[in-house]
Amino acid sequence: MSQEQLYDALLDALYATFGNHPGFRVAHAKGVLVSGVFTATPEAKRHSRAAHLQGEPIPVLLRFSNFSGVPATADGDPMASPYGLAIRFTLPNGVSDIVAHSFNGFPVSTPEDFLFFLQGIAASGGETPNSAALDAFLAGHPQAKSFLEAPKPVPHSYVGLSYYGVNAFVFENDLGQQQAVRYRIEPEQPELPAQADEVANWEVDHLQIELAQRLAKGDLHLRLVAQLAESGDNIADGSVAWPQSNKSVVLGVFTLKELLPPDRQLETQQALNFNPARLPDGIKASADPMISARQHIYEKAMIRRNSL
Ligand code: HEM
Repeated sequence: MSQEQLYDALLDALYATFGNHPGFRVAHAKGVLVSGVFTATPEAKRHSRAAHLQGEPIPVLLRFSNFSGVPATADGDPMASPYGLAIRFTLPNGVSDIVAHSFNGFPVSTPEDFLFFLQGIAASGGETPNSAALDAFLAGHPQAKSFLEAPKPVPHSYVGLSYYGVNAFVFENDLGQQQAVRYRIEPEQPELPAQADEVANWEVDHLQIELAQRLAKGDLHLRLVAQLAESGDNIADGSVAWPQSNKSVVLGVFTLKELLPPDRQLETQQALNFNPARLPDGIKASADPMISARQHIYEKAMIRRNSL
């Protein structure tokens, strides 16, 4: 199978799971856009010469989303997790994105394995379920098994949990020094997850409503953190989290100011396509094969969702 065929097959597998919803993303279909500003810490520029890490305020758009490719998925539904956070930085000479989710890892390390995983999940559901392929896959892929079995807590707020970039990127500073990093976006104060009995009474759009209510009271803040790779860490395998003891650097703070107005929300979301491989000078992709795969798949996904 060529790379092109692999990417199309991955999109086919996602469409088979979630169905056709013209205009909507086939994953993370339901979302909400917030505008704000990112301001880097003085330490950030020591690690990368990227334009948004030099300390000037940078306009940003943040899209919080539910994992499912079904737009009507309730915010407290198990299929809403991992929750997504995509960030668009508008730099003086272009744009750059971060695309993260609320799980510190991914079920697999390559796009090929992701296809086996999705096909196994599809075969184990539906009218004539057959879990043999999925069982065999999980037996040989412990990260995929632990991803499926890991608790997926429902947050009280889209700004109350941490999001992880999963795939590693390489920072380069003015001196040409390089450092592999993984992103984490975290709340100012950690918040406890919601309890199942509360979530059972939530409205379908509970987290969107909660975000609007919080923003109506004033600006909100999230930190952008880079976890630094240490010797022995696997740069190319996003399915394995690096040790928590690794050094982390606070790169800056997002100040979330306002929701896009309701009449511009959907249209603007559908027209945007975030891409984790859209990088400025001073940040490049690591050896992780998922970055190039995601680059091409997200480009294809945008074209496909707009031509359904
Ligand atoms: C081979 C692996 C992956 C595949 C095939 C895949 C597939 C997709 C597709 C097709 C979309 C919709 C894009 C669009 O229509 O604009 C999407 C969106 C998204 N993905 Fe992935 N993805 C992969 C890995 C990841 C990873 C590792 C993460 C987390 C770090 C992630 C988080 C997200 C998020 C948050 C969105 C929504 C972005 C937005 O708000 O526009 N994905 N993914």
